[in-house]
Amino acid sequence: MHLEIEPVPSSFRKAIPHDVLNLAFGSVFTDHMFTMQYSGGIWHSAKIEPYHPLLIDPAALVLHYGQGIFEGLKAYRRGERIFLFRPRMNLERMNRSAERMVMPQINSDFVLSSLEQLLTIEKEWIPTQNGTSLYIRPTMIATEPKLGVKPSDDYLFFILLSPVGPYFKEGFRPVGIYVADQHVRAAEGGTGQAKTIGNYAASLLASTIAKQAGYSQVLWLDAKERRYLEEVGTMNIFVVFDDEIVTPPLRGTILPGITRDSVLTLLKHWGYTATERLLSIEEVLDGLTSGKIKEIFGCGTAAIIAPVGRLHYQDKTYTIASESIGPLSQRLFDELTGIQCGERDDPFGWVRVVNESG
Ligand code: PLP
Ligand code: COI
Repeated sequence: MHLEIEPVPSSFRKAIPHDVLNLAFGSVFTDHMFTMQYSGGIWHSAKIEPYHPLLIDPAALVLHYGQGIFEGLKAYRRGERIFLFRPRMNLERMNRSAERMVMPQINSDFVLSSLEQLLTIEKEWIPTQNGTSLYIRPTMIATEPKLGVKPSDDYLFFILLSPVGPYFKEGFRPVGIYVADQHVRAAEGGTGQAKTIGNYAASLLASTIAKQAGYSQVLWLDAKERRYLEEVGTMNIFVVFDDEIVTPPLRGTILPGITRDSVLTLLKHWGYTATERLLSIEEVLDGLTSGKIKEIFGCGTAAIIAPVGRLHYQDKTYTIASESIGPLSQRLFDELTGIQCGERDDPFGWVRVVNESG
């Protein structure tokens, strides 16, 4: 497919923010976006064009029935070099989300090369300071105007870019997590493993309750027994016991995180016993009371590694690692961010250097 490029004239370009560390996450967008359209069974009209509001029919299916999916990844820059972290995994996950939501597949080679051209055009927007990056948001929405409940015939795919600092206002410091016992995120057979927009809408009530109680995010329990840990609002979760590091298994209800996969790989590489298994809330509370649990942390693209300092469950608050950053959380944070910025060895070939991929 041909990629048309319509650059923003230099006199119309926005001022690039300098203090990215203090921007609210995802609040500023670059000058250009990528778009392509799907109709008549094919993707077409691929374009890098000025960032602009969308003109969308009020009857578009996404607005009524939520047929929409998205992804999240980041670009990093050191000098002239631009890096992406495991971008193919995001595009493959997007195609799995598309399958679950009866949406068309994208050609990941074409989308990746278009993304790389977009990043090259927006290179000056990629911040270079430690703790900053350019967040990339590929999105697909159903655009056919129709009130019947059915998969759309037409779609819009777009990619937005936003310079970001830390996801949590705390920065890289322990966050408080509220265990949801009134609401659930996803049941087996549902859409939990797809990155579909409705999952996030469904999470808002519980996360509002958590925020009102002074916690940054919700920890979800399984829908059936309200007993087993699932994941956090925008992160997967790891619990560090004295002899084992545990993360909940992929049973179709949680997002198969790319950071989760990277953390599991690093932990095994470092010689730890890292296990994907069911982990009940009782086991966690017992471990916290007995001292068997040394650290808990969340991980995700936006949040990177977020140590958990406090856990709230049914009117009780438990403190973890005296609300300090545990050594393993610190080591993983340093290693992951080092690899992502091209500053540390990349033994697993995770980093893609954009300007050298040809
Ligand atoms: N779980 C949820 C619900 C998320 O939104 C995210 C963020 O994308 C993650 C987990 C972590 O996934 P990843 O590491 O691929 O960013
Ligand atoms: C990500 O980590 O990329 C996410 O998608 C989290 C989010 C801001 C919804």
